[in-house]
Amino acid sequence: MAEKAKAPNGKLGVMIVGLGAVSTTFITGVLMTRKGLAKPVGSMTQYDKIRVGKGADKKYLKYKDIVPLADLNDIEFAAWDVYPANAYESAINAEVLKEKDIEPVKEELVKIVPMKAAFDRNYAKRLDGDNVKDAKTRWDMVEQIREDIRKFKEETGVERVVVLWAASTEVYVPVNEKVHYKLEDLEKAMKENDVDNIAPSMCYAYAALKEGAPFIMGAPNTTVDIPAMWELAEQTKMPIAGKDFKTGQTLVKSGFAPIIGTRCLGLSGWFSTNILGNRDGLVLDEPANFRTKEVSKLSTLESILVPENQPDLYGHGNDEDTQYYHKVRINYYPPRNDNKEGWDNIDIFGWMNYPMQIKINFLCRDSILAAPLCLDLVLLSDLAARAGRYGTQRFLSFFLKSPQHDYTEDEVPVNHLFQQYVMLKNAIREMGGYEADEEID
Ligand SMILES: NC(=O)c1ccc[n+]([C@@H]2O[C@H](COP(=O)([O-])OP(=O)(O)OC[C@H]3O[C@@H](n4cnc5c(N)ncnc54)[C@H](O)[C@@H]3O)[C@@H](O)[C@H]2O)c1
Repeated sequence: MAEKAKAPNGKLGVMIVGLGAVSTTFITGVLMTRKGLAKPVGSMTQYDKIRVGKGADKKYLKYKDIVPLADLNDIEFAAWDVYPANAYESAINAEVLKEKDIEPVKEELVKIVPMKAAFDRNYAKRLDGDNVKDAKTRWDMVEQIREDIRKFKEETGVERVVVLWAASTEVYVPVNEKVHYKLEDLEKAMKENDVDNIAPSMCYAYAALKEGAPFIMGAPNTTVDIPAMWELAEQTKMPIAGKDFKTGQTLVKSGFAPIIGTRCLGLSGWFSTNILGNRDGLVLDEPANFRTKEVSKLSTLESILVPENQPDLYGHGNDEDTQYYHKVRINYYPPRNDNKEGWDNIDIFGWMNYPMQIKINFLCRDSILAAPLCLDLVLLSDLAARAGRYGTQRFLSFFLKSPQHDYTEDEVPVNHLFQQYVMLKNAIREMGGYEADEEID
């Protein structure tokens, strides 16, 4: 039987890398909810009810009634950013929330002043803030971040810390076996200041895990999805998860593709495009940064609609005629700001290969969708640590575009939203001392 989670004793420190649109929307929402002035809509940990027990004993309970989740009142926030604006200024600048939804918690937001960022402009060329650490090597960056975490703990007296990356997408870093496979090689590269293979995000993750904090990667960066970090998470007994918040288009994709697959319809192509105009969109307008996102967004369909398993249905489309076409585009278009528009054109076929089309037009709000995921990922990774779970937490894939999987062993990731939900429910059951099961609810 899996371990039951221990109850929390003190406060939970949430240290966020990046104090932009997503993080300020997340922080403001938590503070407003605490005051009873807003509702944390979209958060599974605050709303979802899971069945525990079977037959006459079955009950549907909220997560907090199954497991000892940290309370929103017990959260203390801190952040790092390249720009010096405090959380209030940054929330206003982001233009996601209306002033009336920010002003009531202004006093608390103003106090969240970002610490200097561990940053390298080569990883996000479109950013030019100067609230940046002066670090001679990547190892030096790590040391400084570790110091920040220790100082924050000391000053606030928090019992536990989770580090969440909600900073810009970095340029694509291909996995390099010589540097990223073994922890000792990774550490050596940090000490030798191998700036091409060691992204600043790896320094945050390394520092967090070393300081006994779970690390969550909200962007699609190559950070904890390397064997060296898995080794570190095992060594420090800390949870890690996949990457890239599953908010708009990919949520739709991982929920909609199962309809096609379950009814054995064919797919010849899926074209996804987006327009967005926030700073995230600006960074993603740079081809090297977009590449990171593209890899993450493309991976979703391939493990749900698998050409090798159903060549008649999914073996159509590209040059080699082995698979459907799958294209993803992101276009920076300032007038929309944070209100992203996503279009999906899905070319399917049915009986005797007759073609049909499905169009989905999602007029969403990026940060409004991402904020509840931040809350859930933070609370659940803290819970997992208290349940003695460490290394890759597959149940957190529900919230992420790219589930972590051991590609060195050819493990296939689970992208199917409803299979991921079963993993989530079972993890909650187990951490609450109930048995995992696969009953239909
Ligand atoms: N909103 C969504 O739906 C969604 C979905 C998936 C992933 N994401 C990812 O979440 C991240 C945040 O999105 P956003 O809209 O808040 O972006 P944003 O540009 O508003 O905020 C990111 C902040 O990170 C800061 N930053 C960049 N590099 C840093 C570093 N090394 N250290 C500290 N700070 C750093 C930037 O200065 C900026 O203020 C992006 O990577 C985005 O791709 C967002």
